[in-house]
Amino acid sequence: MCGIIGINSNKSVSATIINSLKKLEYRGYDSAGIATLSEGLINEVKTEGRVDKLEKNSLVQNMEGKIGIGHVRWATHGLPNSINAHPHSSQNVSVVHNGIIENSTLLKKFLVEKGHKFKSQTDTEVIVHLITEHLRTQNIVNSIKKTLKSLHGSFALGILFKDQPDLIVGARRGSPLAVGYGPNENYLGSDSYALKSMTNKITYLDDGEFCFIKKDHVEFFDEEGTKINKKVLELSSDEKKYDKGDYKHFMAKEIDDQPITLKNGIKEYLDNTNNDINIYNFPWKINDISSITLIGCGTAYHSCLMAKYWFEELTSLDVSVDIASEFRYRKNRFKKENLYVFVSQSGETADTYAALDLCKNNGMKTCSVVNVIESSIARKSEFVLPIHCGTEIGVASTKAFLGQMLILYILSLKLGLLRKDLKKEIFIQKLKDIKDLPNLVEKTLLTDNKIQTISSTFNKAKGSMFLGRGFSYPIALEGALKLKELSYIHAEGYPAGEMKHGPLALIEEGMPVVVLAPRDNYYKKTISNMQEVIARGAKVLLITNKSNDNVISENIWETVVVESTNEDLLPFLLTIPLQKLAYYSALKKGFDIDKPRNLAKSVTVE
Ligand code: G6P
Repeated sequence: MCGIIGINSNKSVSATIINSLKKLEYRGYDSAGIATLSEGLINEVKTEGRVDKLEKNSLVQNMEGKIGIGHVRWATHGLPNSINAHPHSSQNVSVVHNGIIENSTLLKKFLVEKGHKFKSQTDTEVIVHLITEHLRTQNIVNSIKKTLKSLHGSFALGILFKDQPDLIVGARRGSPLAVGYGPNENYLGSDSYALKSMTNKITYLDDGEFCFIKKDHVEFFDEEGTKINKKVLELSSDEKKYDKGDYKHFMAKEIDDQPITLKNGIKEYLDNTNNDINIYNFPWKINDISSITLIGCGTAYHSCLMAKYWFEELTSLDVSVDIASEFRYRKNRFKKENLYVFVSQSGETADTYAALDLCKNNGMKTCSVVNVIESSIARKSEFVLPIHCGTEIGVASTKAFLGQMLILYILSLKLGLLRKDLKKEIFIQKLKDIKDLPNLVEKTLLTDNKIQTISSTFNKAKGSMFLGRGFSYPIALEGALKLKELSYIHAEGYPAGEMKHGPLALIEEGMPVVVLAPRDNYYKKTISNMQEVIARGAKVLLITNKSNDNVISENIWETVVVESTNEDLLPFLLTIPLQKLAYYSALKKGFDIDKPRNLAKSVTVE
């Protein structure tokens, strides 16, 4: 995690660095810092807390220097305080770091024996002292090369040198890093998002590479220090999309934008002329695939789990689902006929990337479902299915979840059709249903007022449970995740049928329990499970869909009714009230909705 920015310019850089850091706060926001070089001295200012606090510091307001680096931190080693905030500097070198140095304890011991004095508890500080040590006897290229070779773990680095007024060094292994090109100035950033307001010309560093950013040009090196050429990419500029308009929070806007983002996805993938799905460039022969593994983290993992139900329903493929951090270290049985699908909003999540890397190294078929098409995961996969839902800023994922589910559902339909598991008429009917989905989501958003009232009860609770069966089970998990991420209320998602095997013991008088019971095959079973929790004192919020029958149950505390559609698509609608519930609970508690405590949007450490 953490965000890095570096600017080498012919004008003062501190204000631009601060503005870029604000954009990077989605990567970490427990502390922030900046260092510039002026009159042969490194000036460094750091603070615990947000970039706003850093900006208000009078030292920053008066900070001079036409070259500088900045950082927002998500703590790994050491408390989130101003001492541990980056940059970390010696007299000669200043470093910002994203990632984890796994052998920092050993390196520190070696450096302390050589007389180096450490100020912080971070792993990063060893990098500062290693470079300082090597610079005593070697030139910059060799000092960097030697330092990088001795580091174990992952990093993206920005480095400033006291004696080099026209040089920022960037280096990457495992954590993303991009270079941007401007008029008479060049930039370094932990992703293109931070650089987009300054340039649309970008080069991504690959693992093992480092670069020298000068004011008027950039040089790239491989890990042996040999100069290499890299491509410059042009990014499309979509700055307007970052605005939260009249909304108080990005998350509120992102929830309400879902009818539009779904429409965008549908427009890209549904071929109305041919009644087909526009995945015509699928790079493998359909008969060469007999199974599929879906891999992701957090909310993206939940969309993978959701997809398992669809793939099993609509295709005859064997389906497995994995959490990336587990998959990457297990003894996997790689199979040539298996398709590995990696799901990630940011396309930068370290564990998902590592799982993809592992599959690629084993010669597997790899496909990614991402929101950020320039991301590391997208660039590494053989085949990319973008979700087209625009920038997502709220740390808790909402519109990207629906976007991922849409693409995974569409993929399951397409593979079902190609494999002849699904009849063409059924396929066409399901495409029609997809086209109605944005409209149904729009109508379901009208449950807003009711959810606002209901959220007060959740706020007072010690804990809560979210139950569902079948298609509703992954949504129960996602609903619980949203509530805990945002309102810090303990929430468990559970398969409703599994309650009696333990979790039922948690139910006590007045505990709010969300039961997802749409009118699908599981309805009656779920309603029975609901009665079991009501009988033990739970306050049940039933979420179901419109139907002609009355709910066959008593003593339900509250009911929220979503629109109706075919069973496959109900999970999209059931998600809406759960997103709103989490939002309003956090709002009433006065928490920072777009930046929940301890979390970050893009998790680039494992
Ligand atoms: C973080 C975010 C989650 C997200 C997860 C995976 O934990 O806070 O909202 O679901 O990372 O991120 P990805 O970008 O890979 O979807």
